[in-house]
Amino acid sequence: MELEDFTITAAALLGLISLFKNLLVFIRWLHATFLRQPKNLREYGSWAVVTGPTDGIGKALAFELASKGLNLVLVGRNPSKLEATSSELRWRYGNEIQVKTVVADLAKLSGLEIEAAVASATEGLDVGVVVNNAGAAQGHPFAKYFHEVDDESMESILRVNVNAVVWVTKGVIGGMLKKKRGAIVNIGSGSTVYVSSFPLQTLYASTKAFMAMFSKSVALEYKDQGIDIQCQVPLFTATKMTMLKKRPIFVPSAEMFSRASIRWIGYDRQCNPYWSHAVEGFVFHTLDTISVWYIERYMTWMRKKGLEQDRHL
Ligand SMILES: NC(=O)c1ccc[n+]([C@@H]2O[C@H](COP(=O)([O-])OP(=O)(O)OC[C@H]3O[C@@H](n4cnc5c(N)ncnc54)[C@H](OP(=O)(O)O)[C@@H]3O)[C@@H](O)[C@H]2O)c1
Repeated sequence: MELEDFTITAAALLGLISLFKNLLVFIRWLHATFLRQPKNLREYGSWAVVTGPTDGIGKALAFELASKGLNLVLVGRNPSKLEATSSELRWRYGNEIQVKTVVADLAKLSGLEIEAAVASATEGLDVGVVVNNAGAAQGHPFAKYFHEVDDESMESILRVNVNAVVWVTKGVIGGMLKKKRGAIVNIGSGSTVYVSSFPLQTLYASTKAFMAMFSKSVALEYKDQGIDIQCQVPLFTATKMTMLKKRPIFVPSAEMFSRASIRWIGYDRQCNPYWSHAVEGFVFHTLDTISVWYIERYMTWMRKKGLEQDRHL
């Protein structure tokens, strides 16, 4: 065979292999997103712990877990919101489930205090699923330069998004190791996995990058012990954190996201459960340079809009 023919055949073969590989990835994604049977979460244990269950994704997840028959330990900072969420759950599910609440401001407690609060609230309970959902962002305006983030928000982002995740995990992992069963779900963010930088959300995205690495690494440490640890990396979801006045068509509500989220628990170490988020993530990742340019412009616009709103208050 001539060198030219050989080069063309080799290139065509490589192209075919790459096409086939991408097709397999796509088919696997379609199956996981729409067809795969969700795990029976009660097989991990009869109780679930959710941090930040009083609003947004955490609240919707608490309802989803309750709908699967799991009892709940709700860890939140606001006693009246915790009480309101528990009452809603009891009203919806009656005696089918039990609900316990723990008042803990994850931005104020030390790591050891968080671990102790979780360990004592779950003592004697068969804890199967733990969702590290509580998250702190920069506050208004949604996008800011690093030096503009006030000290309190900075402290709270670092403590809630990093410290609390580590110490809540420490508070429950011992019990899971003993019974060799458990699932831990950390709600990270697509801002850290699909694009190479996320300007004007620097601190938030960096803490979520920590969470992704923590989850993937600790997941490998315990994968043979019956403990499934996963980082879910959603993109924009309509909650109070994103301050969206109107939900754009491809942005899911917290309930839409949570229904998808539950289906992925116990599977991949990192995943993006909601279908439109996964598509967006793919596009962002493929066009990284353009994506980062767009994010910078969009965040700058959001900052400007937020500052204008502040001036009119
Ligand atoms: N929304 C999005 O577009 C998006 C995208 C990617 C990732 N995420 C992640 O998803 C998770 C949930 O976000 P969300 O959009 O549902 O936010 P959210 O609506 O603002 O709800 C956040 C929850 O965390 C709680 N929380 C905040 N600070 C706390 C603290 N210091 N101590 C205890 N609890 C605290 C809140 O309590 P209160 O009710 O008392 O405020 C609330 O229950 C976060 O980890 C976030 O980073 C969100």
